[in-house]
This record gives sequence, structure tokens and C-alpha cells, in this order.
Amino acid sequence: DPMSRLIVISNRVSAPKGQSGAQGGLAVAFQAALREYRGIWFGWSGEPTDEFTGQINFQRSEGVTTATVDLEAQDIDEYYNGYANRTLWPLFHYRIDLAEFERGFEDGYQRVNERFADTVRPLIEQDDVVWVQDYHMIPLGHELRKRGCNNRMGFFLHIPWPPRRLLSSLPHAAELVTTLLAYDVIGFHTDEWLEAFRDYVTLDLGATMSEDGTIHLGDRSVKAIACPIGIDTKEFVEAATSTSARLTYRRMRDSADGRDLIVGVDRLDYSKGLEERFLGYERFLVDHPEQRKEVFLLQIAPPSRGEVGSYQRIRATLDALSGRINGAYADIDWVPIRYVNQGFPRHVLAGIYRAARIGLVTPLRDGMNLVAKEYVAAQDPEDPGVLILSRFAGAAEQMKDAVLVNPYSAEEMSDAIVQALAMPKDERIRRWRALMDGIEEKDVLWWRRRFTQELMGDDDSLAVAE
Ligand code: G6P
Repeated sequence: DPMSRLIVISNRVSAPKGQSGAQGGLAVAFQAALREYRGIWFGWSGEPTDEFTGQINFQRSEGVTTATVDLEAQDIDEYYNGYANRTLWPLFHYRIDLAEFERGFEDGYQRVNERFADTVRPLIEQDDVVWVQDYHMIPLGHELRKRGCNNRMGFFLHIPWPPRRLLSSLPHAAELVTTLLAYDVIGFHTDEWLEAFRDYVTLDLGATMSEDGTIHLGDRSVKAIACPIGIDTKEFVEAATSTSARLTYRRMRDSADGRDLIVGVDRLDYSKGLEERFLGYERFLVDHPEQRKEVFLLQIAPPSRGEVGSYQRIRATLDALSGRINGAYADIDWVPIRYVNQGFPRHVLAGIYRAARIGLVTPLRDGMNLVAKEYVAAQDPEDPGVLILSRFAGAAEQMKDAVLVNPYSAEEMSDAIVQALAMPKDERIRRWRALMDGIEEKDVLWWRRRFTQELMGDDDSLAVAE
């Protein structure tokens, strides 16, 4: 009888919210995995507390057990706002100009990882499999090993792995990366991130690599793999034809008044290339005045990490830029950009995607990007829209049938919009079908299985949920 439970650990934990809540693709992915298998999802509650006690709040909802702890304000500041989002996030997204290096951040990050390790350690039973997520928790596995945890442990990075010469600008980079070798398997979304990781550990740390890609350093061996995450494609197709999606679709179509909708949906983050996207769209308006009033851009951008200065600055920049573009080109009955700082439930987004003639997904750098996949899944097979995708999104390694663009070039983005608007239906259908085949084959279940099989050997012996 399989006895292994799956212990997922990540900074942010979200219990299922039904249809009403706004949640990201990743949250939905883990909820699905934990509904299938016995297990626990552990992490920060998102809430502050006066003094860290390590008291765990267990909750069970829709078949998923979550276990969360509160963090002290100083921890949140130094670990989450600090090292995770002022140091690692910008650096790993190639924005060394935005990266801040402070010892206090580093110490806070280490302290919180130790606190997580102390807290979660007693929950881990002998046969359990531990799967740690993302850049907030790089040293966690190492801390768990120090506490006698001999379980199979995996780590998955959901953001890019930077080129080694970039990474070497991080103080104590070698120590941080070395802690990763405590895991048995490390996953990345693309070959590009995997290769950059291999470069760093072999060239900077002196690790060796065997034929099958296993990395050896000292007495540790770790398998590093590329394993692209997908969406719950079936679920999203259903979402796109649900009643609430249909209502949204109608509302969108009515308000579009015969014009073509171009849609972007991103957390308000400088890595998403929103400024460049607006400028690319402006280029299109300037170069094609005759097409101006036949389209509009709906950019949905829920604010994110608002306590971090670089996020406050990108928000101010986008406020000014959207205002300037609207002021310059709007007419009494048309506005070029509808800029919305609010998140929406998945069913609503699905309806909006389906109504959109173009999905504009143009991050400057992105680990994967699931909006690109959701946009495709939401399309009407008989009359699908066109995905314009940045070459620098992890998703571009798989989604070759999108219109791929360099998001730094306003001219290329403008050309892509022209091409997409003029694209004949048969070509739209052909491209969409190829993209859809990809996201049907490699959905979130494929991703989860591929990784846990690597982690547990060939027999998938996770205990099935009752
Ligand atoms: C990215 C990260 C995730 C993170 C999410 C939302 O997708 O890879 O780990 O949870 O952004 O960011 P937030 O800071 O709000 O958790």
C-alpha cells in the first residue's frame, strides 16, 4: 500500500476559493495535486504576528489540507520584501540594476528558512516526499537535512535561472547555490534555465556532471531537469464556456462595439514588460492611424508587492504612460487603453480571453507564464484569437506557433499586432490547434507526474487521497 504523502512547501499557500476568488495558475495546480494525493501544503499565511511562535494553523477545504504560520513584521520585511523580492527576484529576472544587496535581507531570509524548517520538520513522516517551491525557499532543504530529514526532497524554481556571470554579482551566491544540492531533484521550466544552472554549478562550484545529467559535488548527487509546468487545460476549457464566462464574454463584446480587443493580464511587475507593451501599442497607433479606432487594449494589472520601491515606481510609470497615451490619441467615443488595477476570478478572465482577438503576453523575462497557456485554452476552436508571445518568456520554448516577438522592440510589437489583426482564419486555426495540442499533452498533471516520478523513482507510490 503506498504510504507516501506529498508535502508541498511554498511561501504562499492558497486554499481553494471556488469560482469566486482571483487566484494564479500555480495555486490551482497544487490544489489539484493535493486533491489527488494525501498530503499537506505548508507555508506562510500571508499574515503578520507580533512574535513568531511556530504555531500552525491547519485548514481543510475541498480535499486540500493547508498548514500555515504567521511571520513577524521584521521577517516579512527582510525575507519576503527584502531578500526574496528586492534581491533574488530582480537579479534572477536579469535586472541587476534593481537588485538590492543588504546583509539584513540575507540574514532575515536565512532566519525565516530556519524557522520554516523547525516548524515543518515535525509534520514530515518517514515515507513522505517533500516538494519545495520557488526562490523564497532555496535553503530550506538543506535546513531540513540538518534536522535529520532523510526523505526524498525536490525543489522547483518557477522563475528564470540567471546566466552565471550575472549570478556571481550576488554576495554569497556560491553558498546559496550549494544549499540546493541538499535536494534530490531540482526542476526548471526550460532548457535555458537548466543550462544556466549547470553552467554555474560546474564552472563556478566545480561540480561534475554524469551522462544522465546528474550533478555531483562532494558527497551530494542531484538530478536537475527541465520540466515545464502546464495548466489544468480541461478545467480551463470548461471555465471558458461556463455561465459566468459567457456573461463576461457578452459584456466584453457589447462594450467593444465591433472593435477588436487586445488583452494583457499580468501582475503589476516590472518583469512583465508593461511599459514596453504600452509603447509598442503606441507605435502601432502612430504607424497605423487608419486602424486606430478599430481596436483597443485592455490591460488588467493587479498590483503586487506594493511595499517594494521598484513596484511603486513601475506603478507610477504605468499610471503616467497609460494616461499620456489615452490623452494623446483618445476621441470622444474611443479610448485606446483600458487600464485596470484589479484582479478577476478565473471564470471572468476566461470569458475575457475568449472575447479577445489578440492575447498580448510580452514579459521581458518570465520563468514560464501561464497566462499564455490560459489564453489559448480559452479560445473558440472555430474562430480563435492570436497569441503574441515574448521570446523571453519560458513558455516560448514550447509555444513556437505563437507570433513570437522581442518585447524590447516597439516596432516588432507593432508589426506583430498588424500581423495578428490581418491573420486569415485558416492560419489562426492552424496555429491555435498546434498550440492547443501542446497544452493538452503537457498539462499540469503531466508536470506534476513527471516531477514526482523523477523524485520517487519509477513507481509512483504516492498515497491516493481518500
Ligand atoms: C511568481 C512567483 C510565485 C509567487 C507569485 C505571486 O509567480 O514565482 O512564487 O507566488 O509570483 O507573487 P507574490 O509575491 O504575491 O506571492
